Amino acid sequence: MSRKIIMSLLLTLAATSTALAAGDPAAGQVNTAICAACHGPDGNSPAPNFPKLAGQGERYLNKQLHDIKSGRRAVPEMTGMLNNLDDNALVDIAAWYASQKPSVGAADPALVASGEKLFRGGDLARGLPACTGCHSPDGTGNGLAGFPHLGGQHAAYVTKQLTDFREGKRVNDGDSLVMRAIAAKLSNQEIEALAAYIQGLH
Ligand code: HEC
Ligand code: HEC
Repeated sequence: MSRKIIMSLLLTLAATSTALAAGDPAAGQVNTAICAACHGPDGNSPAPNFPKLAGQGERYLNKQLHDIKSGRRAVPEMTGMLNNLDDNALVDIAAWYASQKPSVGAADPALVASGEKLFRGGDLARGLPACTGCHSPDGTGNGLAGFPHLGGQHAAYVTKQLTDFREGKRVNDGDSLVMRAIAAKLSNQEIEALAAYIQGLH
């Protein structure tokens, strides 16, 4: 594909996604008081099992909120909390957290090297793609495509997500099963190494 075609594709994508997701952060903040207990007032959750939402992509957040509300993604801790929020309220909440600055954690030094190797290089022999291809080398993800920001996310939360994808307990990654297929190839040890590396990535 020529560079020109790729550029015009990206521009079209950018135009479509602004049209689709144009949440109002200030309006969104109003509905986040109840969320702060677990996710922190600015989306930097203090507890390792509650995901950080600060700086996460708006499109990804909006999709998760819809998936959680419909039960497609099971989050028992949030049961009923989104029921009274319509599509506009959800996209505003997504815009609020997307506008916040994510905090960074520290990587476990014993695990970081093996985690980095997998994250950046994958493992060709096993058909495991590099995570950077979708989540970007600095872990910021790809906002337009809806690939989540991972950098600085709590290791305990990342470990749980990768394990849930592998065990088929999280199934909202689309018909291509992209994360379920990838996680199926990961051992517990590899998941821990990846999660440690991601926690310190920025
Ligand atoms: C009692 C604690 C609790 C409260 C309150 C809560 N959440 Fe959550 N939330 C969680 C947990 C736990 C998860 C992750 C569950 C899992 O392991 O998959 C989560 C996941 C999420 C995710 C997905 C994040 C990602 O990276 O995929 C979003 C978005 C979210 N919550 C938004 C909200 C919003 C908005 C509110 C308020 C309306 C809220 N939460 C209230 C506990 C809570
Ligand atoms: C082909 C693209 C692609 C590749 C390669 C990829 N991912 Fe993902 N990843 C996704 C998508 C898309 C989602 C969001 C699925 C959804 O909508 O729930 C995701 C979600 C995740 C999540 C959940 C984020 C959250 O906040 O809950 C984690 C953790 C994750 N990926 C880790 C990895 C790791 C580690 C690798 C490398 C071993 C990797 N991914 C490779 C596309 C990819």
